[in-house]
Amino acid sequence: MKKKIIATALSFAMAASFAGCAASGEDAENSAAGDGELQVGIVLPTRDEPRWIQDEASFTSILGDAGFTSEVLFSQGSSATELTNVESLIEKGIDVLVICAQDATAAAQAVEVAHAAGVEVICYDRLITDTDAVDYYVTFNSFDVGVQQGQYLIDAYEGQTDVPLYLYSGATTDNNAFIFFAGAWSVLSDAVANGQFTVANCDAITPYIGQTLDVTADHEALADILGTITTNWDFNTAKSLAEANLVANDASLKGDVAILAPNDGTARAIADAFNADADVSSFVVTGQDCETASLGYICSGLQSMTIWKNTASLAATTCDMVNAILSGNTPNTSTTYNNGVIEVPSNETAVTVITIDNISDPVDAGYVNAGDIEGYPG
Ligand code: BGC
Repeated sequence: MKKKIIATALSFAMAASFAGCAASGEDAENSAAGDGELQVGIVLPTRDEPRWIQDEASFTSILGDAGFTSEVLFSQGSSATELTNVESLIEKGIDVLVICAQDATAAAQAVEVAHAAGVEVICYDRLITDTDAVDYYVTFNSFDVGVQQGQYLIDAYEGQTDVPLYLYSGATTDNNAFIFFAGAWSVLSDAVANGQFTVANCDAITPYIGQTLDVTADHEALADILGTITTNWDFNTAKSLAEANLVANDASLKGDVAILAPNDGTARAIADAFNADADVSSFVVTGQDCETASLGYICSGLQSMTIWKNTASLAATTCDMVNAILSGNTPNTSTTYNNGVIEVPSNETAVTVITIDNISDPVDAGYVNAGDIEGYPG
């Protein structure tokens, strides 16, 4: 029987410290800082999405402040480049690899190479599946991201019936896309079953109305559903798909609509498509990542919410893990995720919903600059 990709959080969120890494690189027993070799290699999926630039900035500052030597490389959407990046970091002598995979299964090869070289592997944000060559996983609570997105749509249209609901997902090569969607559907399913929403663009979900979808047990069903509504995390794909959905539907599936958009980049692209349709009177659209451009869209009413995933918290959790590993200790973890082969010891970080009402929170925390947000009040 073919193994399916599985990722199930077994316990609930642990909020990571906001303040940075408790560690000091110079104290770590196996510290390589003195021998000129790199200690920590970080591989992120792409420079082309603001989300990962946020992570790069957080890593550079937090690992640097803690005294660790580190280097960040980007895979630019290519698993082959990802492998080359890992190999070049191994050559530079890294002890720990922090990797956010481009493709959950394809990345198994890269981490197997790292493991064979004696490097400890921390999956960052996205779980690498179908391999035992991962040691730890640090992640936001992705199921909760989906729940918050779905619940936002439900609350926005409370008391209404037959509201057209447009569903969009992330890339099917990203394990997180499954978790986000399952989280959202865990609350939207009943709202569709009880008549609040009518799904407007996804026939494949019909057999699951009134049922929840489990990331592990229903992986194949989820893959089929996501296959029909995927944006591939790509703005242009998202916009074209939304435009195609709008062309296919008549005015009865327009008017005031609800849109589950998986992240900020795709939310903006989808919002632009819906905004251009004369039969759409208004729309409520979700997002995630707290990107500056989306905070601008929230100010102008073109996006309704985003989920603030504080990359500084995730980088800080990773830094604490790095310190434990380099000190010869076992990092503290609070849960496990099953990657299809092993239970990966993991830490989860909580997320925050941002709307126009609390848009000042990420600004006041110094996460984004007010001056960079178009239309920011005040
Ligand atoms: C991340 C999101 C991001 C998406 C696209 C997901 O794995 O968790 O924050 O928006 O990838 O890059």
